[in-house]
Amino acid sequence: MVQATPFLLVISVALLAPGLSARKCMLTGHWTNDLGSNMTIWYVDEKGDFAGTYNTSVTATKSKIKPSPLLGSENLKNQDSHPTFGFTVNWSFSDPLSSITVFTGQCFVDEEGNEVLKTMWLLRSHVNNIKDDWKATMVGVNVFTRLHSQK
Ligand code: BTN
Repeated sequence: MVQATPFLLVISVALLAPGLSARKCMLTGHWTNDLGSNMTIWYVDEKGDFAGTYNTSVTATKSKIKPSPLLGSENLKNQDSHPTFGFTVNWSFSDPLSSITVFTGQCFVDEEGNEVLKTMWLLRSHVNNIKDDWKATMVGVNVFTRLHSQK
């Protein structure tokens, strides 16, 4: 019986570990980034397509910020480890001039076991003249962490 205990422990860890790691890096849920922006990914379907809403904390426009729709795609080949993904936010408040941001990134699990989305983005703002095209696109990075619901 004494010898069976370590054996059962090893078996339990072997059985539970894949289940625990599989729960990490699912993109669905609430996320916040280093600028204080929040996003919610409602679902990721069987093809990896996902949808949600993005509430930015900052804007390059003079408009009042409103939540905006996001549409994205996750590469499911690395679903159980560190998936890559991309999504587009179509800014609903940037009237009358439009703007749109594309994010690309990868999910990681840091040394404390926290999920981190490392992303880069391109923000395209409408310009009235082709001569202004050179200044129409901004680039940057954002790091997202999961917002845990308070109990
Ligand atoms: C705009 O100003 O035209 C729309 C809002 C853009 C917000 C940008 S997108 C990249 C960066 N990350 C954020 O969370 N917000 C800013």
